[in-house]
Amino acid sequence: MTLFTRRGLLKTAAIAGIGGVGIPAIGRLGGWAAAAPEPVVLQTAKIQTKLMDGGLTRDVLTYGNAGTPPVLRMKKGEPFAARLVNAIDDPTTIHWHGIRVPNKMDGVPFLVQPYVYTGDHFDYAFTPPDAGTFWYHPHCNTLEQMGHGLTGVIVVESPGDPKFDAEFVLNLRDWRLGDDAQFIDQFRPRDAARTGTYGTVRTANWLDQPQYDAPAGGLVRLRVAITDVTRIYAFRVDGAEATVIALDGNPVPERFSPDALLLGPGQRMELAIRMPDEEGAIVSLRDVRGTKPKILANLRATGGSLKRDVRDIAPLEANPVKEVDLAAAQHISLALSATAENVPSDVICGSLGYSFWAINKVPWPGDTPDPTAPLAELKLGKSYVIDMENLTPQSHPMHLHGMSFKVLSSSTRPVQPLISDTYLIQPNEKVQLGFVADNPGDWLLHCHIIEHQKSGMTSYVRVV
Ligand code: C2O
Ligand code: CU
Repeated sequence: MTLFTRRGLLKTAAIAGIGGVGIPAIGRLGGWAAAAPEPVVLQTAKIQTKLMDGGLTRDVLTYGNAGTPPVLRMKKGEPFAARLVNAIDDPTTIHWHGIRVPNKMDGVPFLVQPYVYTGDHFDYAFTPPDAGTFWYHPHCNTLEQMGHGLTGVIVVESPGDPKFDAEFVLNLRDWRLGDDAQFIDQFRPRDAARTGTYGTVRTANWLDQPQYDAPAGGLVRLRVAITDVTRIYAFRVDGAEATVIALDGNPVPERFSPDALLLGPGQRMELAIRMPDEEGAIVSLRDVRGTKPKILANLRATGGSLKRDVRDIAPLEANPVKEVDLAAAQHISLALSATAENVPSDVICGSLGYSFWAINKVPWPGDTPDPTAPLAELKLGKSYVIDMENLTPQSHPMHLHGMSFKVLSSSTRPVQPLISDTYLIQPNEKVQLGFVADNPGDWLLHCHIIEHQKSGMTSYVRVV
């Protein structure tokens, strides 16, 4: 791949920024500088790196070429631009999970953009409206590409962010590797029809149980994103006082302890952790779900105590998400079910060759040139409530693109009115998710357990 020059990039960004309006006059140049920032180059790469004892793992996919997963920083309300350069031998795109971008920037092949072939590029440009923790990943051949590592966390900063003494970002994921540290089959059909196929090696920032230093007695902001294709986590923090301050890119209405908090693929949490006073003390973030609990990462207290108090952290600013009008809202019923059909189809963006799942009885793997009809056609600016029912014995992290919803009620548990983009629906649960259809376009709605997504549990809504 040839590298782009700084000047070449500036030019491209400028063109993207003005949306193809004529030939630039000199006078425009000043305007461009403000409107179109220099794009970040996100070049897909195949690298080898160490993920477990036993050798380097080949065919790891990432953006850039560092041996650590990338973290992208943006600023709330300020234009952002990125050029995706595809240097792997598979078509790809980028989806900005949780960021309310214009439809054309959403990265779903066929529905909103062509996929980007090997050697080609695509320019993304948008202004993130919300501050918080988000992430990005391909939306083509997702099981293979994400399974091999192609994900990054996004931090959208705001000048109004409260001050912490330290901040860490954790990208949580598993890898399906054999004893020789090389990739094995990404999925087993019988597991895809159940909870999804788990990885064999578990990591945080591609490391087994990394440890980071943080000031004793200080306040830490820990941003955690689950980028795994399958695993649902139940979190616990040992050794310190910890509180959840944000979920899925939005502040929580009321802070609470993370103990036993369940989050699925695609979801994010932000914790405020008050480090112990004593130098050398260890704070552990654990996953306590299932039969093999695991320490995900440790923080070690260093230096003399800063003697801070969690209650000193100012509330996070709410994001500008429109309030759903419940009295006027129209309801959309949505039933998640298994399907008996088996419809192998071969498409470029990666069919698994099976249908196991359906939304309102329609199985669709998504990202195909022949989409099904939209689940519903919504009127721009109107309020809607999705009445979602899970008729399966599995949990599903259901993700809506392009718009944030508010969790209104659940049939099985008390819920906070969280603003979110991904809801982990439990077996036999019915949940109501309200939102204003304020972003025009076709927006995917799918399970983020990628085997479920790619074997039928995908649909979309159309906002016109
Ligand atoms: Cu995070 Cu449609 O995806
Ligand atoms: Cu699912």
